[in-house]
Amino acid sequence: GSEAGMLKLKLPAAKSACGPLILVNRQHPLPDEAGKLYLDKCAEQLVPVSAADQEVRLQRAAACALMRLLQHLQAEQQLKPLSGFRSHQEQQELYASSLAEHGEAFTRQYVAWPGCSEHETGLAIDMALVLPQINYLTPEFPYEGICQRFREAAAAYGFIEPYPQGKESITGIGHEPWHFRYVGRPHAALMSEKQLVLEEYLAFLHQATAEGKSFTTQAAGQQMRVSFIAAEPNHETIIQVQGNTPYSVSGDNMGGFIITEWEG
Ligand code: DAL
Ligand code: ZN
Repeated sequence: GSEAGMLKLKLPAAKSACGPLILVNRQHPLPDEAGKLYLDKCAEQLVPVSAADQEVRLQRAAACALMRLLQHLQAEQQLKPLSGFRSHQEQQELYASSLAEHGEAFTRQYVAWPGCSEHETGLAIDMALVLPQINYLTPEFPYEGICQRFREAAAAYGFIEPYPQGKESITGIGHEPWHFRYVGRPHAALMSEKQLVLEEYLAFLHQATAEGKSFTTQAAGQQMRVSFIAAEPNHETIIQVQGNTPYSVSGDNMGGFIITEWEG
């Protein structure tokens, strides 16, 4: 577009670890700040995902999307949001108790190392099929029935399955059919269409937008332009967006920002 009407954004370096597209894994831990403090820095609020259970909380956008997804499926009685945001301390306690109860091999596979869990961001939710007995670490969430309908509708609400079967060596986590991650629309649609985990999707974005290139794509019926800019270390990064269309900016937790602009 032309310079006229462009909007200039100033992003502090710390914000490159904030936003729905951040990669959080063993190689990419969250900045060294515990739970709520981290979210305060991102200016994100945690809210309950249902009126029935005030304990399970997510970042506001993720919580709203999950609520609408469950409403759309009329699945509030059959599917239970089991575990959302966990503080750094809660993740540490979970890791320790799993280690004591289930041993090292299981724990490495199914519990992220403290500081490296998506649950510490308030963007991940463990879902459980409601059964008389619900296993907290490995709840039932089969690829059939209401669980499968949830899974198939999830991308339209901004959720992906970040730990699918066959990608364990990329994600470093075992296959977790119950764990969903909010990345927002329309990235969720694109990821599920391309069957990419976040590690692969960010690598793809970095490559597709290298050297100031941007790419345009159609996802969920929307045309969007995606670009990437490396964060200035210890400085503000200046980003220009078209002021007249909706846009979003997310850090990637790898030292950069991903800019998504919807085209009219
Ligand atoms: N169960 C997932 C990997 C976590 O602990 O974040
Ligand atoms: Zn989980």
